Amino acid sequence: MRLLVFDSGVGGLSVVREILRSRPDADIAYVADTAVFPYGDLAPDVLVDRVVAVMDAVLPDLRADAAVIACNTASTLVLPPLRARFAVPFVGTVPAVKPAAASSRTRRVSVLATPGTVKRDYTRDLIREHGQDCRFALVGSSLLATLVERQLAGEDVPDAAYAAEIAPCFVDDGGARTDTVVLACTHFPLVLDRLRAVAPWAVDWIDPAPAIARRVTTVTEGAGAGDGRRAVMATGRPPSPVLLERLGFPAASMLAV
Ligand code: DGL
Repeated sequence: MRLLVFDSGVGGLSVVREILRSRPDADIAYVADTAVFPYGDLAPDVLVDRVVAVMDAVLPDLRADAAVIACNTASTLVLPPLRARFAVPFVGTVPAVKPAAASSRTRRVSVLATPGTVKRDYTRDLIREHGQDCRFALVGSSLLATLVERQLAGEDVPDAAYAAEIAPCFVDDGGARTDTVVLACTHFPLVLDRLRAVAPWAVDWIDPAPAIARRVTTVTEGAGAGDGRRAVMATGRPPSPVLLERLGFPAASMLAV
C-alpha cells in the first residue's frame, strides 16, 4: 500500500506514527508545506488554492492508494474541492467532537485547534450534530503549532509558553469543569507530555490519530502490502529530522510549488 500524508509541517507525523503501528509495511510519501506554515491564520480561499496546488504537484506521479490530509485546518475546508479534482480516496482529519461528547462525564469539552479550525462552519456543524448536551469551549491558538515546530527542531520551549496557550481550555464554571480536551490540530499530540505536565488539572486528551489510521486501513482494503519505503518532501525548511529519523524516514527533499 502506498500513501501520501500531507500537513503544513511536522503535525502529520502524529498520524503517520499511528498508521505505522498497524501497517509498518506502508510506503509513505510525507509532504510538508513548510514554505507556507502555519496554516492556522490563512484566509480560506488562499488555503484552498494552496493545498490544491501542492496536491497538483505531487499526486499525479505518486499512484497513491489514499491521500491523508493530516491537518485539521486544511481538512475542515479543502476535502470537497480535492475530491472533485482527484480520483484517489482522501482521508481527512477533523475535530474529534463525537467521541469527546460520548465520553465526557462533566459535559464540559474544549476543542484546542488553530484559529482557522475553530472558525469553520464544519467544526460548528460537528458540534451541533454530535456535541450532545455538552458545553464546548472553542480555543484557537495562533502560536501552539509553531511552539511544537520549534521544540521538535531542538529549541527549548518553556513550560509557561505551553501553559499560556492551553489555559483557555480549562473552564471551571463553579458547577462543573472541563474534563475532556480535543486535540484538533495534528501538531499537538506530538507534545502531549508537555501539555499534560502544565495542565491545571487532569483531563482526557482526545487524539484522533488511531481513528484516522483505522479509516486508512478501511479505504485501502485490497491494496497489496508495501515495502516500507519512506520519502519526505518539503516546500520550505525540512521538518524535524529527529522525529523523521525515529519514524524511519530519510532526509527531506525539496518540493517546488
Ligand atoms: N497541523 C495542522 C492542523 O492539524 C495545523 C498547523 C498550522 O497552523 O499550520 O490543523
